[in-house]
Order: sequence, then structure tokens, then C-alpha cells
Amino acid sequence: MSQGAQIDDMRRLLGDGHTTMLVTGGAGFIGSNFIRHVLKRTDFQGTIINYDNLTYAGNLASLADIEREFGGRRYLFEHGDICDYQRLEDLFSKQPVSVIVHFAAESHVDRSIHGPADFIETNINGTFRLLETSRNAWKDRKDVRFHHVSTDEVYGSLGATGEFFENTPYDPRSPYSASKAASDHLVRAYFHTYGLPVTLSNCSNNYGPYQFPEKLIPLVVLNALEGKALPVYGDGKNVRDWLYVDDHCEAIWQILKQGSAGETYNVGGECEKQNIEVVSAICDVLEELAPAKDNPALNRQGGIARYRDLIAYIHDRPGHDRRYAINCDKIKRELGWKQGHDFVNGLRSTIAWYLQNAAWVDGIRSGDYQKWIERNYSARSSHTNRGAK
Ligand code: NAD
Ligand code: DAU
Repeated sequence: MSQGAQIDDMRRLLGDGHTTMLVTGGAGFIGSNFIRHVLKRTDFQGTIINYDNLTYAGNLASLADIEREFGGRRYLFEHGDICDYQRLEDLFSKQPVSVIVHFAAESHVDRSIHGPADFIETNINGTFRLLETSRNAWKDRKDVRFHHVSTDEVYGSLGATGEFFENTPYDPRSPYSASKAASDHLVRAYFHTYGLPVTLSNCSNNYGPYQFPEKLIPLVVLNALEGKALPVYGDGKNVRDWLYVDDHCEAIWQILKQGSAGETYNVGGECEKQNIEVVSAICDVLEELAPAKDNPALNRQGGIARYRDLIAYIHDRPGHDRRYAINCDKIKRELGWKQGHDFVNGLRSTIAWYLQNAAWVDGIRSGDYQKWIERNYSARSSHTNRGAK
């Protein structure tokens, strides 16, 4: 089939009221934003099934508005594990799934260092089982497309210069990125070996509403509001390329609509920042939106006058990748995608969202969350005085 015909078929499928899209990991940060994006901001007319086993990172409260507006009609939740092959087979036999968007993963690098087993199981074996189920469905009905959501971390770590391109050789360096790299290879193998129509995206660091507060930006926002230390690993000069989550969701939507089977698209913010710049920027926005001088949590600690005074350099993440930078010219050129949010405005609206959604925050900071904070940070005692360098 020609590329043009493939794209027309996919567009028809996505605009067809009968299409069923399976989103794995839809109760997580990006998955929940993606479901909202597709149902509220695109011309998708079909139904979304959110398949998620609700790990510590999965939270149905992130989809409460979607459940109210679309629940039982165009949005269904299925509690299930991507490692459970029989459960997936049953689901595919009951529901006419034709588009699979695969987010489900263990996603936090620090957790992969403390306990890699879940990463191997979900990210590698789970992806394998989902591919098998998708391949079985595709053998019967040819209208199946599998999109795999991956990360820039598979490409390894950059020095002061250079960028990651779609053909940059893989060089993962954490159990998380190694497991994602393995899953990417499996997805491509199913295209080359069996012909399963797949697309892949490798994206840089996302930020925005509904991100679990183990990741840098929400962790720092919430710690600051509580007058807790703002933990910066190592010298704070590791660089990440930040992208607002809605821009990632729109990139995936454009890949579904226009992407070619077998292709990989890099997605990035073109917004490189050192971690200390990000943490300092958060402090500055907080000073405007919730000034430290009026915050009782800081007032209780004599001598802490500004959020920046809470910054604490702590022992580094083992194997900490120094710099990521994504080249996303291909998706811009071929699919017409571009970033819609700049970092200043995206960060401000993200922080405002956390300030306005205290109930969501309280709901996820359960006992398990506190245990994680204790586990990750107690062994990394501060190695410099607090305060911005
Ligand atoms: P997240 O940790 O917030 O959410 C993961 C979701 O997957 C949760 O809802 C969880 O319950 C679910 N899940 C985990 N194991 C599962 C299993 N075995 N079966 C079913 N569901 C399971 O992750 P995120 O930040 O939203 O990332 C989503 C995807 O995007 C991941 O594949 C990640 O590698 C990729 N990615 C993330 C970023 C980022 O900056 N967060 C950037 C690039 C790519
Ligand atoms: O690049 C894409 C990846 O971005 C995704 O694949 C991952 O799923 C996602 O978690 C994210 O990985 P990072 O490791 O880059 O994100 P994290 O928010 O954990 O850390 C961002 C940077 O901040 C990193 O250099 C480590 C540093 N950091 C992180 C934490 C949690 C700190 O300095 N202090 C902290 O407490």
C-alpha cells in the first residue's frame, strides 16, 4: 500500500465514530493528558479504552472530568496489566480495538535504580505481550495501528554539544532507559518481521498538570510550598530538554493521523535547561504566585526568607546522564507539528495548576509516596549549604 493511501486510511479510521482506541497507561501523567487532548481537542469521533493496572503512578482522579463528560459512552476504563496476556486477549476479542497507543511503563529513573525488576517486567515483557495481542488482532483484521511512546533517554548522554537524531545509535545507561530501549527494539522487530504497522516517538522531558510529584518539577513545587529542601542532584548542571505535555500529546495525535508505518519521530521542546535553572525558575514563579514571606510553612523556619534558600545540593544520581537534546526537525518538516507552549508560560501555568489542585495532590501523596521520598532522599544527605549557587 502506498504511503498516501496508508495515511488516508488512518485519517478515516480516526474520524470514524466506530473506531476504538486502546490507550495503555492512560491513568498516568502523559496518558491522562493524551486522553483529554484527543477527546476534547481533536476531531476523533470514536471510543477510548484506558487500560491501566493503577500502579502508584496511576490515578483515576486525573480523569474525573473525562469520566463525567464521556464515561460509559466514548471513554471506558479497564483495570488490567499489560503483562497479563490472557486479559489482553479477552479484551481484544470483546472490543474492536484498531488503534493502540502504548504509554504504560514504569517511568522513573531513580526507582529503576532502587528496583529494576518491575521495569524489566512491565516495559519489556509487558510491551512484548501487548505486541503479541496486537499482532493476533491484526492477522484477522488489517485495520490495526500500534503507536509506541518512548523516550530520548534511549540515545544515552550528550556532552556539551550535539543532538539526538532518529538514527542516533542507542546507548541507554539506566535500567529504565535500557528497558525502554529493549521495548523500542521489539516494536521495530514486529514491523520488520511480521509487518505489524507501528510508529514510534522518542520524546524529551515532559512537564505539566497531573505529573506525579516524584519528578523534578512537581517535586520542587510541592516541597517549596511545604518549606522542605529542594533537592538538586550533583552540581545541578545536568541538562534536560523540556516540553509541555500538551505539545507531546498533539505530536502523538499527528503521528497517528499522518505518520508512516515503521517510522520513528523524535519529539522535543528545543528548550535546554540546566536543572538548577529549572529549580530557580520555579522558585521565582512561586515568589509571584504564593510569596514565601506569606507562607506559614517557611515562616515557621527562622531564617528562610525566600524559596531559593531551600535549594540543597545532594549526592548525585548514579550514572546520571549529563545532557539530552532532541533534534525534532523530522516531525516538524514531515507532519507540520511544532511546540505550542514556551517554557516561561508553560511553567507558570503548571505551577498555578498545582496551587489550584490541592485535593488532587493530597490524594496521591499517600503513605507509599512518603516511603519513596524517605528511600530516595535519606541516603543522599546534602553535600553543600542550602541556597542557590
Ligand atoms: P507515569 O509513570 O506517570 O504513568 C505510567 C502509567 O502506566 C500509570 O498510570 C501506571 O499505572 C501504568 N502502568 C504501569 N505499569 C503498568 C502495567 N504493567 N500495566 C498497565 N498499566 C501500567 O508515566 P508518564 O510520565 O506518563 O510516561 C508515560 C510514557 O511516556 C512512558 O512509556 C514513558 O517512558 C514515556 N515518556 C515519558 C516522558 C516524561 O517526561 N514523563 C518523556 C518521554 C517519554
Ligand atoms: O527525558 C525523558 C525522560 O524524562 C522520561 O523518559 C522519564 O520517564 C522521565 O521521568 C524523565 O526522566 P528524568 O530522569 O530526566 O526526570 P526527573 O524529573 O527524574 O529528573 C530531571 C532532572 O532533575 C534529572 O537530571 C535529575 C534531576 N533531579 C531529579 C530529582 C527527582 C534532581 O536534581 N533532583 C531530584 O530530586
